[in-house]
Amino acid sequence: MLSHIQAKLLIVDDLPENLLALEALVKGSDCEVHQAQSADQALSLLLEHEFALAILDVQMPGMNGFELAELMRGMEKTKNIPIVFVSAAGREMNYAFKGYESGAVDFLHKPLDPHAVKSKVAVFIDLFRQRKALKQQLEAIERSREEQAQLLAQLQVTRGELERAVQMRDDFMSIVSHEVRTPLNGLILETQLRKMHLARDNADAFTLDKMRAMVERDERQINSLIRLIEDMLDVSRIRTGKLSIRPSLFDLSQLVGGLIENFAAQAIAAQSSINFSAEAALSGVWDEFRIEQVVANLLTNALRYGAKSPVQVRTFEQQGMACIEVKDQGIGISEQNQQRIFQQFERVASSQSSAGLGLGLYISEQIVLAHGGSIGVHSIEGQGATFTVRLPLTDLPQAADHQQATSA
Ligand SMILES: Nc1ncnc2c1ncn2[C@@H]1O[C@H](COP(=O)(O)OP(=O)(O)OP(=O)(O)O)[C@@H](O)[C@H]1O
Ligand SMILES: [Mg+2]
Repeated sequence: MLSHIQAKLLIVDDLPENLLALEALVKGSDCEVHQAQSADQALSLLLEHEFALAILDVQMPGMNGFELAELMRGMEKTKNIPIVFVSAAGREMNYAFKGYESGAVDFLHKPLDPHAVKSKVAVFIDLFRQRKALKQQLEAIERSREEQAQLLAQLQVTRGELERAVQMRDDFMSIVSHEVRTPLNGLILETQLRKMHLARDNADAFTLDKMRAMVERDERQINSLIRLIEDMLDVSRIRTGKLSIRPSLFDLSQLVGGLIENFAAQAIAAQSSINFSAEAALSGVWDEFRIEQVVANLLTNALRYGAKSPVQVRTFEQQGMACIEVKDQGIGISEQNQQRIFQQFERVASSQSSAGLGLGLYISEQIVLAHGGSIGVHSIEGQGATFTVRLPLTDLPQAADHQQATSA
């Protein structure tokens, strides 16, 4: 059953005729036989091969069998090889041999009894194969144990990721429903109120001034719903690589200036103000709508997390890049959280009370990257935050053109 395991036998005798006779005896014991005519020759074979058994003639000129055996017991590679001494019966038994304790030792006496030789060799070869098979099994068990440990570690990582994904989805769902419910509730309440006025023929509730205010309120609620849906659509566009970039030539400083004017009402609502300084005209080829989206995100954040402090906006040129800087003096962002905020749905715990899906910065960064630019934040917690967008003043990179082509 274990015959697939190769077993080697070493026979050592100074007389070639003895070697021949011994080899003839062990022939057919299903092992590879190596011969040595001296202890030296035997030693070099021992270093080269792994032997199942060594049969040593005790009486040899130079180093005798016992001395060779002692040397073998002293070397790591050979110390456990079973040894069978061949001796002229009754004589060399007086030789001292130290080394019985470490490996198996046996004796054969001259004249050799063929049956005794064969059975001893068979026993040792068999033992060797069993030991070897056991070792292989143990190694296989150890290997599979290591593989299992690796799998387990992988599984734990995957489980962690999964738990985090589920948690993120749950958080996202609750934020989305809250975010959707807020403007919807406003609209429903307004509608019910108007219905009530209509039922009572209360024309006073519908004066032109009141109608104007109503339409404005409705528009705000509807716009925030649209923005919410657009953001979610943008995320799925980014995921499928279909975020479209439609480049055209425009002046960045002019765009930012115009946008800040549109933010006047929001700044007042946030009890803040926005100061703008354009240090240069910055004409370039970018997607005007998308860049406006980025700046609007940064302005909304600065007003939202700016703790009513005035917001400073600057546009300037630096190292061939058009730069927009939005700076507030609000709650700031810790270094640890600065790593997270550009990821989807990532919001800082301290700002959870404010509305937001945690998508603004993620979408902004993706837009800026699609333009071959970058976005970064500099902040110390509690001391405000400065976001800087850098856009290349040269033409759009190939990637953006390609994206535009595929999504057009
Ligand atoms: N100017 C800022 N000051 C302090 N914290 C900020 C600032 N801008 C962003 N953050 C933090 O980064 C988080 C992620 O911002 P992001 O714009 O991506 O999401 P959001 O504002 O929460 O929601 P959304 O933009 O989708 O409405 C915010 O929730 C907030 O914790
Ligand atoms: Mg935001």
